[in-house]
Amino acid sequence: MFERKPRSEYEAALLSKGKRTMPSGPRNPTRSPDYAMIVKRAHGSRIEDCSGNEYIDYLLGSGPMLLGHAHPAVVAAVRAALDDGSAYLLAGEACIELAEKMVQAVPCADKVYFQSTGTEATFFALRLARAFRKRDKILKFEGGYHGMHDYALVSTQWTWTPADFPAPVANTAGIPRSVLEEVLVAPFNDIETTAAIVEGHADELAAVIVEPMQRTIPPRPGFLQDLRELTRRLEIPLIFDEVVTGFRLAYGGAQEYYGVVPDLCALGKSISGGHPIGVLCGRDEIMDCAGPAKLMRGEGVLLSGTYSGNPISAVAALAVMQELAAPGVYEQLFARGRRLMDGLAAVCADLGVAAVVSGEPPAFDVWFTAGELGDFRDMLRADGKRQGRFAELLMDRGVIKAHEKFFVSTAHSDQDIETTIDAARSAMQALIEAEA
Ligand SMILES: Cc1ncc(COP(=O)(O)O)c(C=O)c1O
Repeated sequence: MFERKPRSEYEAALLSKGKRTMPSGPRNPTRSPDYAMIVKRAHGSRIEDCSGNEYIDYLLGSGPMLLGHAHPAVVAAVRAALDDGSAYLLAGEACIELAEKMVQAVPCADKVYFQSTGTEATFFALRLARAFRKRDKILKFEGGYHGMHDYALVSTQWTWTPADFPAPVANTAGIPRSVLEEVLVAPFNDIETTAAIVEGHADELAAVIVEPMQRTIPPRPGFLQDLRELTRRLEIPLIFDEVVTGFRLAYGGAQEYYGVVPDLCALGKSISGGHPIGVLCGRDEIMDCAGPAKLMRGEGVLLSGTYSGNPISAVAALAVMQELAAPGVYEQLFARGRRLMDGLAAVCADLGVAAVVSGEPPAFDVWFTAGELGDFRDMLRADGKRQGRFAELLMDRGVIKAHEKFFVSTAHSDQDIETTIDAARSAMQALIEAEA
C-alpha cells in the first residue's frame, strides 16, 4: 500500500529556492502547494520526488513519454549520438532519415520541417498558410490549445468567460490587439455554427486549425469529415494540431485514426521520447512556400531555428519510431488505456458519482458532469474543483496525472492499471466522504 512520505527538508529547500528564482515558482502537479514536488528521477511508468515518493505516472511530461521514461532503446541511441556532437545547424544523417520516415508515416506529409517545440510547429503552420492563401485571419476552436504564441493563446481551455462566437478571448496579458483581430473562434463539434462563420469570412481566412481530438473531447462522427469538406470547398488550408495525438492515437496520428487528412499538421511531444522537437508537415503546394524558388523571389516563408533538425532529438525520434512500429504496440497501448477508462467509469458508477470518462484510450480524463462532453462549454459546466481534488487524492495514493488528462504509455503494466483503479476507488470514496 502506498503511503505518501512527508516532504523532506531537502525537497522543501529546493522548492523555496525555486520560488525565489523563478517568477511562478517550480511547476506544481496540482493546484495546491501541499502537492508541490521536485522530481528526482523517472523510469518506465514511475516518477520519484525528492522526498522518496514513487508515483505511477500518467502525467508523462505532459505527453512525450509515450514509451515511458528513460526507455532503454532511446537512451542508448541518444548516448551513442552524443559522442558525435549535439548541434550542427546543418542537417545530419539522422535528420534526413527522420524526414523520410515522417513523410512515410504521416498521411498529409509530402514534406516536413523540424523545430524544437509544438508551439513553433503551430506558429509556423499558420504563417505558411497565411503566405499560401495571402489572407491573414485564422479560425480556431474554443477550448483548443495550440501552444504559447500570440495566435494560440486565445479562447483556449483557460477561458473562464467565453465570448459570443466568433469573438476571441485573450488568455494572457501581452497579446497585441492587432493579433486578436485576426483570430475567429468556433465551437468544436458544431459544424453548422462553424460553417456559418467560415463561409461568412471565407475571403479573409488563411487557415482553420483544430486539435482533431480537442483536449479529451473526441470528434463527433462526421465532424472532422465535414470540416475537411467545408475547407476543401472554400480552398482554405486545414491544419491539424497533432502535437498530442501524433503517434499517440496511431502511428499516422489522428489523421490515420479518424481517417481525415488535413493540408498541414503540427507534431511534437510523443515522437522523440522527451527530446525537444516540433514537426510541421504538409502538402507540397503549401510547404513549397518555404522553398528556395519563392524565397529567391522575395515571396517565400522563412522557417528557421538554431535547433531545427537537432541531431540528438532526431536519433531519439528514430529510436521511438522503431519501437512504435513493432507489431502489437498500439493494440497493447489501447487495451491498457481502455481497461483504465472502463475501470474509472465503473468506479464512478459503483459509487453513484456523475462523471464522463472522455477521450481515447491513450489520453483521456474523468469529467465530473451529468451531461455529455461535446465541446468546451460542456467542460466548463463540469465540476473542475472536484476534478482537481480527485487528482490530489490520487497523489496521496501514489498516482500522478496531468491537470486534465491521463496519458497512458507503453510502459504501464497491467498491474499499474489495476493499482490505479484501486487508488481511484479509494480516492473517489474519500472525495464523497469529504463532501458529505
Ligand atoms: C495540442 C497542443 N498543441 C501545441 C502544444 C505546444 O507544444 P509545446 O509545449 O511543445 O510548445 C501543446 C502542448 O501541450 C498541445 O497540447
